Amino acid sequence: MKDLFDKIRDNRGPIGQHAKESHGYFTFPKLEGDISNKMVFRGKERLVWSLNNYLGLANHPEVRKADAEGAAKFGLAAPMGARMMSGNSNYHEQLEAGLSELVKKEDTILCNFGYQAMISAIDCLVDRHDVIVYDAESHACILDGVRLHMGKRFVYPHNDMANLEKQLERATKMVEETGGAILVITEGVFGMSGTQGKLKEIVELKKKFTFRFLVDDAHGCGTMGPTGGGTGELQGCQDGIDIYFGTFAKSFALIGGYISSTENIVEYLRYNMRSQIFAKSLPLPCVVGAIKRLELMRSHPEFRENLWKITDALQDGLRKNGFNIGTTNTPVTPVYLSGSIPEATNLILDLRENFDVFCSMVVYPVIPKGQIILRLIPTAVHTIEDVNYTIECFSKIKDKLVSGKYLTEKIAAF
Ligand SMILES: Cc1ncc(COP(=O)(O)O)c(C=O)c1O
Repeated sequence: MKDLFDKIRDNRGPIGQHAKESHGYFTFPKLEGDISNKMVFRGKERLVWSLNNYLGLANHPEVRKADAEGAAKFGLAAPMGARMMSGNSNYHEQLEAGLSELVKKEDTILCNFGYQAMISAIDCLVDRHDVIVYDAESHACILDGVRLHMGKRFVYPHNDMANLEKQLERATKMVEETGGAILVITEGVFGMSGTQGKLKEIVELKKKFTFRFLVDDAHGCGTMGPTGGGTGELQGCQDGIDIYFGTFAKSFALIGGYISSTENIVEYLRYNMRSQIFAKSLPLPCVVGAIKRLELMRSHPEFRENLWKITDALQDGLRKNGFNIGTTNTPVTPVYLSGSIPEATNLILDLRENFDVFCSMVVYPVIPKGQIILRLIPTAVHTIEDVNYTIECFSKIKDKLVSGKYLTEKIAAF
């Protein structure tokens, strides 16, 4: 028989197995200083493209002031207890009302983290008689929520509407036997590829099938649509989204999440969502900080306009310079390259140490062997100079990669 700790010592997990070589640089890097387009990494200022601070709110003076005043006035402890028992406040309810207005739903429930909110909402919404149908490239929080589900689940290949119809036919037959119902789940903006979920087409399928529709719009809230109301607003189908999920971890540059729906469903979630009933409520400084961010988001459309100006310049420039950025039609900008892991390592070292550009990299085992994805997240606080400089650097590192230099050259860094 094995000892649990011995087993864990020998099996570090797909990413953890590289911890010794990567910790502190490729994984767990420390970005210091004010959150903006330029930050300090290992003692030197770098141009940063890896933060979901889409609207640039993280370091806005009014946000910093509201955060500081919130902490000074309430402390980080308040309110104590779960919302249902002793942790409610007028501010929590005010924020929920504001979010409902933003995403055009009747009501909203605040949650402490997006990840936990999604898992817990799925767990709460369905029982073993129900069937979940979901996109294969869904975020881990959706997959983990689905894992908790005791009934059937059917997955369709990413954005494959013909296959989704097939899964809905299977699901319909299944629930006719069990007496259950169907929940379809996808994302508004897929955070790795930047493609949008086909929300409008899924909503159209309601004419043929009976189901309810849950959308994780973590990257879409604040960035997409004429008022920042999200991907459903952009696609003109927000009404057809029955349950809308957002997080504060991205456009809001904060922590926490929320779920918006009809009054009836939100009331049900308030009284049944285990992560909310059995956990402490979101601290007041976060709540008043979110209220300030929401106010700024709504009164300053130029933040979103700037984000899109930078996004368009970056994506057009990369495409014009021969880069493959896939089919993104959102700010998320993946740059697809080919190369081995040692080449990818050298490339990132070169980019960070010699060009002072910091972005995230994705390699095997997250994606197939031989592929490299550099992921750029434009924000409202980037400049056109940042964009031009980055495209210049990317052209140089791509030439080096293609000519095999990263196989032979050792980049000294850490
Ligand atoms: C698509 C998506 N859903 C959910 C989450 C989880 O949100 P949070 O960071 O608030 O837990 C993330 C990441 O932040 C995400 O990218």
